[in-house]
Amino acid sequence: MTSILENRPLLKAEIDKVAEVAGYLWQKGWAERNGGNITINITEWVDDGMRTLPAIDGPRPIGKKLPHLEGCWFYCKGTGKRMRDLARDPMANGSVIRILEGCTHYEIVADQPVLPTSELPSHLAVHDDLLAKGSPYRASLHTHPIELVAMTHSRKWMEKDVATRMLWSMIPETKAFCPRGLGMVPYMLPSSVELADATIRTLDDDYDVVMWEKHGVFAVDTDVMSAFDQVDVLNKAALIYLAARGMGFEPEGMSDAQMQELSDAFGLAK
Ligand code: 13P
Ligand code: ZN
Repeated sequence: MTSILENRPLLKAEIDKVAEVAGYLWQKGWAERNGGNITINITEWVDDGMRTLPAIDGPRPIGKKLPHLEGCWFYCKGTGKRMRDLARDPMANGSVIRILEGCTHYEIVADQPVLPTSELPSHLAVHDDLLAKGSPYRASLHTHPIELVAMTHSRKWMEKDVATRMLWSMIPETKAFCPRGLGMVPYMLPSSVELADATIRTLDDDYDVVMWEKHGVFAVDTDVMSAFDQVDVLNKAALIYLAARGMGFEPEGMSDAQMQELSDAFGLAK
């Protein structure tokens, strides 16, 4: 069977990045079993040959009408599929879908009829919102980083920007490379449209990474590697906090003035 990636080096390069990140998620211990999901908007790499391909499954409902996704194509991790398997073989553990006219349904086009992630409502609603805003972001990543998820079991850290402030203050790179901080979404049923709506509201409150309480993070960026990097620097900061606590003290953290100096020097968003 020929793959849709054959003779499409630019599309293949994007999906290879998804596979590379999937391997990192597994190595980090953030991707137990089928935990986490990735989708990328691949519309800019779609050519006429792809547009004539017949569907191999569907149409299936998205669960929402997403008007800005007219004519869009995505690569999605498959539901129930493991990141560690996707890292080896992205087209057997994920699929390419296209959004149908009317923007309420999608169909699977390639390579195999692998059903997209159960978090598709959140992913596609976020992509719809990004396009509506004119954002250059084309990737969304959901994963289960251990220390960040642990923090959400405390009311204190769930309060707006309390965790962001602490994480930014652990090491300057955190604010430099996750300059919008960490938004907080209260617990909601995984895969629900309510969770999708709350995720968009929080991203629109000017964050690139949001925490799903007692579940995981959801991050967006230009590509999947950059979305991963934002989560990685946040979780590194959480580990530094934990290491200090393990040494028996509450870490001092950088001062507000030091963090402001950083924002001024590097022109950071906040
Ligand atoms: P999927 O296997 O459906 O992508 O679900 C994994 C997950 O983390 C749900 O929140
Ligand atoms: Zn999850």
